[in-house]
Amino acid sequence: MIDAGTVREAFRELFGGGEPRLFRAPGRVNLIGEHTDYNGGFVLPMAIERGTTVAAAPREDRRVRAHSVNLGSTAEFDLDRPGRPRRGVWFDYVEGVAQALVRRGARLRGADLVVESDVPAGAGLSSSAALEVSTGMALAAVSGASVERVELALAGQEAEHTYVGTMCGIMDQLTSACGREGHALLIDCRSLETTAIPLDTTETVVVVCDTRVKHELASSAYNERRADCERGVELLRHVLPAVTALRDVSVEDLQRYGGCLPEIIRRRCRHVVTENARTLRAAGALRAGCMEEMGRLMWQSHESLRDDYEVSCAELDALVEIAAGVEGVAGARMTGGGFGGSTVNLVSRRALREFGSTITTEFTKLFGHAPVVYVSEAGGGAKEVMNAE
Ligand code: GLA
Repeated sequence: MIDAGTVREAFRELFGGGEPRLFRAPGRVNLIGEHTDYNGGFVLPMAIERGTTVAAAPREDRRVRAHSVNLGSTAEFDLDRPGRPRRGVWFDYVEGVAQALVRRGARLRGADLVVESDVPAGAGLSSSAALEVSTGMALAAVSGASVERVELALAGQEAEHTYVGTMCGIMDQLTSACGREGHALLIDCRSLETTAIPLDTTETVVVVCDTRVKHELASSAYNERRADCERGVELLRHVLPAVTALRDVSVEDLQRYGGCLPEIIRRRCRHVVTENARTLRAAGALRAGCMEEMGRLMWQSHESLRDDYEVSCAELDALVEIAAGVEGVAGARMTGGGFGGSTVNLVSRRALREFGSTITTEFTKLFGHAPVVYVSEAGGGAKEVMNAE
């Protein structure tokens, strides 16, 4: 957990002046519903306790100065003169969200920002959404602009599309903005309606295992998957004219009409359509406190992501396979975009120790380095951090 005092201290050292205000937005782990968000479907993530903290104070001019404690890098941009997008640098996210907020009508002032994060980049835990939502919230607040949480999430997504170049869905930003402590969120990514479902962790907990593998091509492969889905919709519309997104296609529809799709597109669509159905069932299982059923759906989700959607990798598959051999693990699957990053596991408390040691030993044997394994509680959404916290 980041100590608010150190961020404040770094702010004073760099920018001097008065007392900054502090904001914090979490990363997320997705329990189930992967690659369904940009298909108008359902997702079931939870915000985590790790996140990005921002110290912020307004300026008299139109400039934004931003410093990343993690990277030791300072950047500066002008709100009225947008820089070139897609530079591949960390402040693409900050400038991107500032520009998106301005486009959405927020009257932003210039600001000084210091940012520190304990969400590891590339771990599939949405470090970028945490950065967008925390800096977006900070910029709006110190400017005296009121921005609704959903609007903030949409601005973060717009930053990805226009400034970063990833055509992501809305899950990560919405979870970071709207997370609720002790709850998972069932999000309808078409209506953006969010339903909080209590996560009972008396007996079973959520464990994240980070492969520490980051795949370079993740963003372009991600955009390709999205394009495959859009192609699927286009073709299915010949036989199902009411379909506007894969969300509108049922498992039965696909069984009946899947034959008209090229093989790869059919598999991509099959993943999305079955994953949507699994996510709705998982939400029901979670509500009923039935972790066994939830776990079963998670194993199935992983298989579908591995075989039909092809976004897993050897390290993720190994983590899931090792987890399957440990007594007391209800379910495991890759989480997030894929091609590296983390798995999410439902583990009974009594099996935690055994789980940690088996995963670490077996994974290290295979890949020569240990994964990072930790229990994750469902945290709250983005907020201003008050002095006492
Ligand atoms: C990334 C994207 C999300 C979502 C997931 C896959 O995290 O940012 O919008 O598509 O991948 O479920």
